[in-house]
Amino acid sequence: SGPALYNQYCASCHQASGQGLPGAFPPLAGHVQEILAKKEGRAYLIQVVLFGLQGQIRVRGQTYSGVMPGWAAQLKDDQVAAILNHVATSFGNRLPPGQGPFTPQEVAQERAKRLTPDRVYALRRALGL
Ligand code: HEM
Repeated sequence: SGPALYNQYCASCHQASGQGLPGAFPPLAGHVQEILAKKEGRAYLIQVVLFGLQGQIRVRGQTYSGVMPGWAAQLKDDQVAAILNHVATSFGNRLPPGQGPFTPQEVAQERAKRLTPDRVYALRRALGL
């Protein structure tokens, strides 16, 4: 299930609360809905989970220069969708009006792009986050 997968694959860094650790791991609480509000933000979230992220980012006044590993080899499409549906509706996040739950189909579509963590970073910059 989404919560169990989150605890297994994400909570070690982003914490069970989704608050992250300032300066080390960015918060998902309140922040995932900011990402979803951007055009292409939904695809970007899938890409981060599948392919990881490398490059300096700024989230809510804190700078992060870490590396997040991608989970494409460990997680199936339905598992990625379940995790994203959990984080997009937990920790104070909600799906923006008009957006439905993540589907395994849209995860498969992103998986086919076979991105690298630095390419995902370039796409983040294009979001205007
Ligand atoms: C960044 C989600 C697992 C460390 C991010 C971002 C998201 C995210 C959405 C991007 C935030 C943004 O662009 O503003 C997740 C989810 C996970 C997961 C859903 C589980 C599937 C992990 C784990 C670690 C980690 C296990 C530590 C080993 C990081 C770091 C960043 C990050 C360091 C910032 C990378 C950078 O500075 O470029 N995560 N994450 N994440 N995550 Fe994760």
